[in-house]
Amino acid sequence: MPLPRLPIDLVSPVLLAPMSGITDAPLRAVVAGFGAGAVVSEMIAAGEMITARPSRRAASRARGQGVAGVPTIVQLAGRDPRWMAEAARMAEDDGAPMIDLNNGCPAKKVTGGLSGAALMREPDLAARLVEAVAQAVSVPVSVKMRLGWDDLCAPDHARRMVDAGARMITVHGRTRMQFYTGQADWAAVGAVVRAVSVPVVVNGDITDAASARAALALSGAAAVMVGRAVQGRPWVLAQIGAALSDTAAPQAPRGDSLLALVRAHYEAMLSFYGRELGLRIARKHLGWYLEAAGGCPVLRARLMRESDPGQVLAILPEALSMGEAA
Ligand SMILES: Cc1cc2nc3c(=O)[nH]c(=O)nc-3n(C[C@H](O)[C@H](O)[C@H](O)COP(=O)(O)O)c2cc1C
Repeated sequence: MPLPRLPIDLVSPVLLAPMSGITDAPLRAVVAGFGAGAVVSEMIAAGEMITARPSRRAASRARGQGVAGVPTIVQLAGRDPRWMAEAARMAEDDGAPMIDLNNGCPAKKVTGGLSGAALMREPDLAARLVEAVAQAVSVPVSVKMRLGWDDLCAPDHARRMVDAGARMITVHGRTRMQFYTGQADWAAVGAVVRAVSVPVVVNGDITDAASARAALALSGAAAVMVGRAVQGRPWVLAQIGAALSDTAAPQAPRGDSLLALVRAHYEAMLSFYGRELGLRIARKHLGWYLEAAGGCPVLRARLMRESDPGQVLAILPEALSMGEAA
């Protein structure tokens, strides 16, 4: 049976997962530069876009900023249909080609507010949110969920969301109670694929071409979504996309090209967040780049402590090249 078509045109069936505090606009731009089917914004609390003080509202809205060349899906979290609809309208006005609703976040501060994965225990409300958003915008609406809260209710939940107007479903192959433990169950995502008529995206523990192929084969999904594997390796989506279309995969950058990439990403973070916040946020990304490159632990520790961006840029070449020599 042919797979249902994704509701927006993608150059490859490989999507970047939303990850709060990680897949921000600077990282999305780096990932998009290598190539990806689509990227998803970090989750944005709809309530913040509507009710917070103006500067915070603007900052929330900016978190959904699109990147050149690749569709940027905006993900919203919340449980008030009016706020979700209004936030979705704003995201559409800002150019989002699709709105995703978060039914999967396991974090207590989100589920405690009865959003994220908690909505899998309240399918009526989750369906009302989809309906409200689908009526408010003309772009497609999707829902990202887990396999269930502590059970495997995803097929039923997905059916409800599709009946309410969702045109794509993404499933992280773990329950909420598993958080990030164990292995993602790609075969269990297959039960969702069989339950709905819209495309399903499989997510969880996909790190390379082999795991992407296995996840697609076991689930029958139309596309894969990749999260943590991108940390320090923003080219991985492009490599997976190339492997799935049997074209030559881009090489992981090394030497001067790796240095240029890390420098540009670092400077983009400082400019996006401002120096103080940018420095703090950039640390984890630098750490991941060095870890992926096998960087020297001593220089890595120095980079993590350094609070002068000029010094960070000065240490980087040695820190990265030590990794290459290893
Ligand atoms: C630090 C972190 C933040 C995350 N933030 C979000 C989020 O904002 N919205 C969401 O739907 N999922 C979020 N996730 C879940 C990921 O999108 C993804 O479902 C999960 O990491 C499994 O995929 P992976 O194994 O490819 O990382 C987050 C995950 C991590 C590790």
